[in-house]
Amino acid sequence: WPYYLAALAFGYLLGSIPFGLIVTRAAGLGDIRTIGSGNIGTTNVLRTGRKSLAALTLVGDALKGTVAVLVVGHLYGQEMALVAGLGAFLGHLFPVWLKFRGGKGVATYLGILLGLHWPAFLAFAAIWVGMAALFRYSSLAALTASLATPVLLYALGHVQLAEAFLAMTLLLWLKHNENIRRLVTGKESRIGARSKPKT
Ligand code: G3P
Repeated sequence: WPYYLAALAFGYLLGSIPFGLIVTRAAGLGDIRTIGSGNIGTTNVLRTGRKSLAALTLVGDALKGTVAVLVVGHLYGQEMALVAGLGAFLGHLFPVWLKFRGGKGVATYLGILLGLHWPAFLAFAAIWVGMAALFRYSSLAALTASLATPVLLYALGHVQLAEAFLAMTLLLWLKHNENIRRLVTGKESRIGARSKPKT
């Protein structure tokens, strides 16, 4: 089990790098947590109107998951890669550097999926894009795609992967509880809407 712990810790450390916070701060926009939903993720960075920063956040938050999985997978095999992926997801959601108040996990989930099962990654991306195009809610698109992922993995016979992603989907949904409430009450902001810092 020391290896499992090491893989988990390695993933956690990578996952806990808050790219949204770093790139917006570096661009002189202040603290992203005082803008829009207060989240540190791509969707909220987009609310600043800076698409390139949102793209950087998406790529950074996703690739940290992919890198964790691929590095550990290369050295110690698929099962350890999954552990590193879980670590990266936990690191993004609960980073020690931000008093354990991290992001909602969508980009990192996607990056981990890319490293572990690229066809499921493509399916997630397609569902996200389709739902976003239809309804213009980033949260709804992610909630739907994350629900479909464990089902798809299970249907393809990857039981262990399906179980791990089911656990991540549950956490992702819990982290989206405010979004779910806003979706139900019709108050969720649509993709493209800008936001000013909270006063
Ligand atoms: O699923 C997208 C999620 O990250 C929503 O972000 O900022 O609207 O809470 P936000």
